[in-house]
Amino acid sequence: MKTYLITGGAGFIGSNFIHYMLKKYKDIKIINLDKLTYAGNLENLKSVGNNENYNFVQGDICDRDLVSSLFEKYDIDYVVNFAAESHVDRSILDPKTFVKTNVLGTVNLLDVAKKAWESKEGFKSYKKYVQVSTDEVYGSLGETGYFTETTPIDSHSPYSSSKASADLMVKSYFDTYKMPINITRCSNNYGPYQFPEKLIPLIINNCLKGKALPVYGDGMNIRDWLYVEDHCKAIDMVINSGSVGEVYNIGGHNERTNLHIIKTIINYLHENVDTSINESLITFVEDRKGHDRRYGIDPTKIKEELGWYPETKFEDGIKMTIKWYLENKDWMDNVTSGDYQKYYDKMYN
Ligand code: NAD
Ligand code: TYD
Repeated sequence: MKTYLITGGAGFIGSNFIHYMLKKYKDIKIINLDKLTYAGNLENLKSVGNNENYNFVQGDICDRDLVSSLFEKYDIDYVVNFAAESHVDRSILDPKTFVKTNVLGTVNLLDVAKKAWESKEGFKSYKKYVQVSTDEVYGSLGETGYFTETTPIDSHSPYSSSKASADLMVKSYFDTYKMPINITRCSNNYGPYQFPEKLIPLIINNCLKGKALPVYGDGMNIRDWLYVEDHCKAIDMVINSGSVGEVYNIGGHNERTNLHIIKTIINYLHENVDTSINESLITFVEDRKGHDRRYGIDPTKIKEELGWYPETKFEDGIKMTIKWYLENKDWMDNVTSGDYQKYYDKMYN
């Protein structure tokens, strides 16, 4: 029975990953370590709360004593680090928090795992640390070309720079100590349980509330969208079969401009929910500082080496996602109560 320490499992991708893994494997143990910041929500994991293969621990990945105690209590085989401050706009407001969790927290996890896993003979081959990173570490593309695993790191925002710094620390644990690691770099995810500070859930929520839809700059920035379950599948494959020390890019060639995404959501809600939801809600606002123009992943390596492929087409995934938010209005009301409005007013008013 393999034991996984999943960090940040109460957030968007981490909670989807826990659902994916508990559905797929009956013989694994999952320890979910999450600080429960504004982005962490145990509601995301309500249906697995009583699963005997799942344990939740509230705490900070920067807390060395706590992380060490988990390695003493459990025979951890894999660390999968999702825990992060993950929103670019918040990183522009407050970069330090991003350095603390994303860089120092990662180093803390690496160091405690190394201490627990290393012996005189080196590391056991079946242990692995997986860093869940992002395509944003590569910076911004022009109109052509794609990010490959050998594209130089050229991060721009405090968020992506903190993720890039963490990636380099993870790499250094392989290069220096031969610690078994992988780094995954995925494109923008969408799907259930995404906090509505990110584009897609924010636009869905604002449409349903009849609020203005803030479009940064000219709305022609391009992101490469992947349904979150396809990301989860890729991470599982990297854990099981990724060559130690390697980076894997994850993406499904679904590049869309922000305006295209926003209009797709408006059209769906106009046809299926309320005809008063229309393009008059679109409001162009000041551009994000240092706004990356285009991201696009070349997924050849993970496809050829591990046999991964994306299963959900964007046109299907976006409908499934909008339907999920329509069916889970309580979830949205819950996460947009409290401090959300304060953040929203600071950002948009
Ligand atoms: P999220 O913000 O939804 O969730 C982050 C989770 O980490 C939350 O549950 C939060 O409580 C927890 N957390 C934050 N600081 C912590 C700390 N110090 N200790 C323990 N837990 C802490 O983020 P997400 O969108 O699910 O992203 C997960 C990971 O995937 C991140 O590392 C992010 O960089 C990466 N990623 C995200 C995307 C995307 O499109 N969302 C794409 C590629 C990579
Ligand atoms: P976001 O979801 O924050 O992801 P990231 O910046 O990590 O790619 O933003 C996706 C794109 O949407 C990005 O180009 C910024 C843009 N955007 C808006 O135009 N308006 C918004 O209100 C938000 C949150 C994002």
